[in-house]
Amino acid sequence: MVIRARVAGVGHYLPERVVPNDWFATFLPTSDEWIRSRTGIERRHFAAEGEHTSDLAAAAARATLEDAGMDVDAVDAIVVATSTPDLTFPATATIVQQKLGMTRGFAFDVQAVCAGFIYALANASALIASGQAERVLVIGAETFSRILNWEDRTTCVLFGDGAGAVVMEAYEGEGTSADRGILATDLHSDGRYREILQVSGGVSASRTTGHLMMAGKEVFRHAVEKLSASTLAVLDKAGVGIDEVDRVVPHQANIRIIRRTAEKLNLPMDRVVVTVHDHGNTSAASIPLAMSVAAARGELRRGEMVVTEAIGGGLAWGAVALRW
Ligand code: UT7
Repeated sequence: MVIRARVAGVGHYLPERVVPNDWFATFLPTSDEWIRSRTGIERRHFAAEGEHTSDLAAAAARATLEDAGMDVDAVDAIVVATSTPDLTFPATATIVQQKLGMTRGFAFDVQAVCAGFIYALANASALIASGQAERVLVIGAETFSRILNWEDRTTCVLFGDGAGAVVMEAYEGEGTSADRGILATDLHSDGRYREILQVSGGVSASRTTGHLMMAGKEVFRHAVEKLSASTLAVLDKAGVGIDEVDRVVPHQANIRIIRRTAEKLNLPMDRVVVTVHDHGNTSAASIPLAMSVAAARGELRRGEMVVTEAIGGGLAWGAVALRW
């Protein structure tokens, strides 16, 4: 018998404002055609003035608890993956805790940029497996629109705002790959590459928030290579063959990265969840958002073998193998 963390519910929230690619062409030398063909993105959501990351996160959390039929009082911990916190401190997770009316347990943030949700899932899995928590709300939430440079067409067209969440609960498995829940995790980072995807400011370095900067082509190259390697590594740890994978939920940054990685793994695209056209790159929110949309479409069903993988600033990357 082993204690595993399994998904008890999933949900998401997207801000009301939808911004189509054409909007960028009103103030930048770009086009719907360029954005669509190079990235697969057609539209994204942007948060309203006064709508904060914690608001998106709390809305996604409420949808998730409803899906699980779980009261907030049953939750022992909240982990929020975000690189766009409401404030420098306290943790956005504690603001979410207050907004949900949760007065017990503990809450903290994880910062691994676009890989944040993978890191947060690994944390939740470890908290549950070690008996420190029985139910953990794992949220990815971002307002990247607040750190975009609107004069840089190479980055500002790529990102969107949103939040997604899962609630993980303890479950006694047999210790085989037939168990539901998280079977294996694979985390990596390499700070030598930190300058190819970073923000130009921060509390200690500049006392500013800064703007996102990216050497897109270089990140692209690392992404395909590292995501396919991490997917194979996590499946190996889980004792599951690539042919047994029912669904891949990749980080939604660029349809060309998603396709290229699937090709490298010999995985047909009908097993890959794609939402990038509707959301753009929502960083740490992208995977739980995609999971929630996929579950609603009937693309993620109980008992299915799922792999999820992401890469982002750090560089930080990784994958999680779980049976839904
Ligand atoms: O979530 C974290 C992980 N991030 C990623 O995974 C992003 C990885 N990178 C990418 O997705 C792609 O590299 C981009 C979408 C960022 C760029 O696509 P690309 O095919 O690598 O294009 P490129 O950077 O080679 O640029 C090609 C051309 C350039 O013009 P020149 O130098 O050939 O004249 C760019 O200036 O496209 C130009 N360009 C644009 N043109 C119209 C760049 N951005 C735009 C734009 N509209 N928005």
